[in-house]
Formats: sequence, structure tokens, C-alpha cells
Amino acid sequence: MIPHIIELPKIYDKRGNLSFFEQPNQLPFQIERTYWIYDVPGGETRGSHAFKEQQEFIIALSGSFDVIIHDGKEEKKFSLNRSYYGLYIPNMFWRKLENFSTNSLALIVSDKHYNEHDYIRNFEDFKTLANGK
Ligand code: TYD
Repeated sequence: MIPHIIELPKIYDKRGNLSFFEQPNQLPFQIERTYWIYDVPGGETRGSHAFKEQQEFIIALSGSFDVIIHDGKEEKKFSLNRSYYGLYIPNMFWRKLENFSTNSLALIVSDKHYNEHDYIRNFEDFKTLANGK
């Protein structure tokens, strides 16, 4: 699989709208961990790395930001700015989050517990691994 946008159900209601995701109906993996990124100062970048095993799903619950994906050969930008869709990222894709709007909130769910050994933090190492796979 390659990184792609997953549209979520949107339950329109004049009292306020509601969206959700659950596995396996919206997500292709079982959630083991949830975290969020918030209070990002203007101009900052988060998450310049890849994961050897971990898959994830990223939603802009509030505000907007860009997710830049690199597959080892080329780059692709996904702009997230609605809470009713998100970006699915399989393992072995370099990704960074940037261009955060004021008060933006990035929700990330993952199929693995936090494990520093799963990170590839050097882009050259990532390219070598990705192009050799
Ligand atoms: P990191 O994933 O490197 O942040 P980013 O990719 O946004 O730059 O995480 C920053 C630190 O937070 C890392 O050193 C360890 C800690 N951390 C946890 O303890 N658990 C988690 O689930 C995450 C995502 C990070």
C-alpha cells in the first residue's frame, strides 16, 4: 500500500457534526497507540523520520498542516485541514509535518507502541533502505 487519504464518515447534525474511525471499517490496522501534537510554534517542523514497522493514520482535528511524504525516490505533499479525513501512512515512508496553522491539533494513531528502535532518523539511511527493498 502507499500513503493515501481515508475519508471518514460524517454524521451531519444541526447540533454539531460527528466523525469517527474504527478498525477494520475505516482503518487498515489495529490501534495500539494514540498521541497528538499541539502548541506548535509558527514555522516549526515535526516528525522528520520514517518507521521500519509502524503504520499510522494522521488527522488534522483542528486547524491545518502539511504532511510531506518521501518514498525514497520522490516527494508528495498532503495538506490536511478537515477533521473528517486523514492520511494513512504505511511503514517505510519518510514523513514530516510542517506549515502548522495557529492552534492546529494533529491526532495520530499507530499500530505499535512507542519504540525508538523502530525510527529511521537519518534520511540517507532511509533512502538506502527504501531503495534496496
Ligand atoms: P518524536 O516521534 O521524535 O517526535 P516528532 O516525530 O514529532 O518530532 O517524539 C518526540 C519524543 O517524544 C521522543 O523522544 C519520545 C517521546 N514520545 C513518546 O514517549 N511516546 C510517543 O508515543 C511518541 C510519539 C513520542
